[in-house]
Amino acid sequence: MFATDYSRQPIESFFPEDMFNPIHYRGVRRPVMEAETLPNWCYISETFYKREVDRIFMKVWNFVDRTDRIPLPGDYFTFDYVGVPMVIIRGRDGVVRAFSNSCRHRGARIVDGAGNCNVLRCPYHSWAYAPDGRLVAAPDMEDTLDFDRSEFGLVPIRLEVWGGFMFVNFDSDAVSLKDFLGDLIPNTVSYNFDDLVCVRRKTYELACNWKLFFENFAEQYHIPYLHGGTLNRQKRKINPPEPTRGAYEALYVQHPGSRMLLQGDTGFPAIEGLAGRYAEGTYYPSVYPSTSMGMCIDGMWCVRTDPLGPHKTRLVVWTCFPRKTVERPDFEQVVQSYYKRLDTTIPEDNTACELQQRGLMSPFNRPGRIGRLEKLVHSINNWVLDRVIGNHA
Ligand code: FES
Ligand SMILES: [Fe+2]
Repeated sequence: MFATDYSRQPIESFFPEDMFNPIHYRGVRRPVMEAETLPNWCYISETFYKREVDRIFMKVWNFVDRTDRIPLPGDYFTFDYVGVPMVIIRGRDGVVRAFSNSCRHRGARIVDGAGNCNVLRCPYHSWAYAPDGRLVAAPDMEDTLDFDRSEFGLVPIRLEVWGGFMFVNFDSDAVSLKDFLGDLIPNTVSYNFDDLVCVRRKTYELACNWKLFFENFAEQYHIPYLHGGTLNRQKRKINPPEPTRGAYEALYVQHPGSRMLLQGDTGFPAIEGLAGRYAEGTYYPSVYPSTSMGMCIDGMWCVRTDPLGPHKTRLVVWTCFPRKTVERPDFEQVVQSYYKRLDTTIPEDNTACELQQRGLMSPFNRPGRIGRLEKLVHSINNWVLDRVIGNHA
């Protein structure tokens, strides 16, 4: 029986004690058209969330930002992700690197925010690190026996770059970024990502689990309803999920024009050299664990959902265009139509995800079913279970 005053009952007490027993996920494991959605505790339980952090975010490649955020030697920004404080910095050799943002002396956080520096200097006792992480100054350490500065550089975190997208990985045993992304790299080669310029980076805080927005982006079911007033020109068409080899799912939708614009607005010319079907529609890769991309004929937007706890997500949205487009004299004027589109539809999605979170909090919530226009939700759910519960669940 349920407690009469649910609000006084710890939420975890409503979840099975053997939450990680595969028996609870049999419905999610069925073929898509027979499958159920994830049980609600996968979105609201602290225990499930912690396991996701350990087994997903600490193990896989996580998108960080575009390299053009730090174009010059010494440019840096800090990035705190699943509780790990990092600093991302470009060296004097032009190479971008990630380090643990924790002093090798007695552990203080070294920097905040973003900027440009000759050295990263810890404010506590003034140990100073070169942009490549070497400890270059440590005052008053002369009497410390066997103290070798070269052994006290910043702790590096694996960072690899694909087409200007920087990714970090906390696991030294993980495969390379190239192997992680698989055939996403050859599929998207004609977008020429190295030439993209990020023109806006916008952040939202959402009262929902990180998976909800990631799932929302990957399904078309909601478009005529949730975005009925804004994206309703989009034709109702069943686009089957793409076969993929790599840590991503994808949809391709063939249509005229750019999906980064609302009906009636005019935009920029197409990306030069865009080839084949990519020049005739939009490609939507959802890169695990939580980066969603909308690659259009004229530019792209990219969304990352950062887990801040089971009920809290930071959403970061990048808008990018080819360099030639950004250099157009009418760029600032025309780009407003693109911002209008994103600033209208993303809040609509945010609202839905927050409603979903609130509904999932009900002790009477039960798993639902998957429709033909949201098959990737099932793929995402199973990718998460493969890691949180195990492949053979
Ligand atoms: S903690 Fe950084 S210099 Fe002492
Ligand atoms: Fe949407």
